[in-house]
Amino acid sequence: MRSSTDVVTAARDVLESSWLADGGFCPPNANVYPHQWLWDSCFHAIAWNALGDKRGLTELTSCFKAQLPNGFVPHMRYLQPNHARGPSSSRSSYLQPPIFAHAAAVIARSGTRVPDHLLDRIEAALAWLWQNRRGEDGLLFIVHPWESGADDSPRWDDWIDLPTYDRQRYREVDVRLKEATTFDADAIATWSTEFVAAPAAFNAFAAHAALEYAALRDDETWAARGRELAAVMDAELWDDAQGLWADRAVVGGGPSAAIPTLDGVFGALVTDDESRAVRALDQLADPQRFGTDQGLSFLPPSHPRFEADQYWRGPAWPQLNYMAYVAARRWSAAPLADRIAAVSQTAAVASGFAEYWDPLTGNGLGAIPQGWAALAAVYAAP
Ligand code: GLC
Repeated sequence: MRSSTDVVTAARDVLESSWLADGGFCPPNANVYPHQWLWDSCFHAIAWNALGDKRGLTELTSCFKAQLPNGFVPHMRYLQPNHARGPSSSRSSYLQPPIFAHAAAVIARSGTRVPDHLLDRIEAALAWLWQNRRGEDGLLFIVHPWESGADDSPRWDDWIDLPTYDRQRYREVDVRLKEATTFDADAIATWSTEFVAAPAAFNAFAAHAALEYAALRDDETWAARGRELAAVMDAELWDDAQGLWADRAVVGGGPSAAIPTLDGVFGALVTDDESRAVRALDQLADPQRFGTDQGLSFLPPSHPRFEADQYWRGPAWPQLNYMAYVAARRWSAAPLADRIAAVSQTAAVASGFAEYWDPLTGNGLGAIPQGWAALAAVYAAP
């Protein structure tokens, strides 16, 4: 591995090279992803912050430019008019995992004051989620795979119904699922006749967001909501046979919702059950599960759906490695967190700061460079 100084310099270059001063954010990759993506910008904010750069707060604030008066924050804000993700031509009708509260907490913990107006925006976004996306079982649901952030995860395969993974065909099914979406008068996705799921990772990230927000404002209401969602997730989604949290199919789908993916580990961010957290996290160190040499692998390499170089079918993702690192640190699993940090940093550099990489060889895949690969700076920070 290069020295920490080199990693920091390279991470800074990645963000600097795509920074849009007028917009106050980085598109994930100017050519491949030329718009603003919500969770990418939250991870960029965390990376900027690790670099000691105030643009962390600027980029986090920019995530709320497209927030609606009712609190909804879209998963994309378009830089040019577009209709690819719902009826609005300025922004997506869907959402993405709410990493913004964690990003705000990281920035605040590093000593930068997060202004009240931004915290108010974050609360409104969480309140929208709780009011509009909670099912009768108490879990939060999503209405399109895009909303999970893990667009082509094998957990969606029973909805997609393709004999083998084919990215182009998957794109076509995504469009069909968009047609199956119900949008409200504000062009917000509310339901789907074909795809509704309560994913373990989305629920874990949301419960974590509630707890992070609660800590920022010493807010007992949100602390209770975060604990409650974590408890529902434990009661409804824990898969004891695999030692992971499974997703729930609400409309459509089937057993693929329990395929072992890295998404099944993030319950460790919020569960109160130490034995479950440890069982899930142990799999991050196991080379037969997610702890491959250049991991974290999104699927165990022996799984029949594993494909080392195909998008969401096996490669390692820097933003998920980072969230796994946060989960490992929560349980004081220092050797595990250190291992995730080391492997993430090495692979980020070796892959040219790739969007994702082969979890066996470290070969860079997808867009290169990609903004969230700059999270490598987190591990290099003194
Ligand atoms: C892909 C990913 C999604 C990400 C986007 C921009 O669509 O699946 O999680 O936000 O690219 O990087």
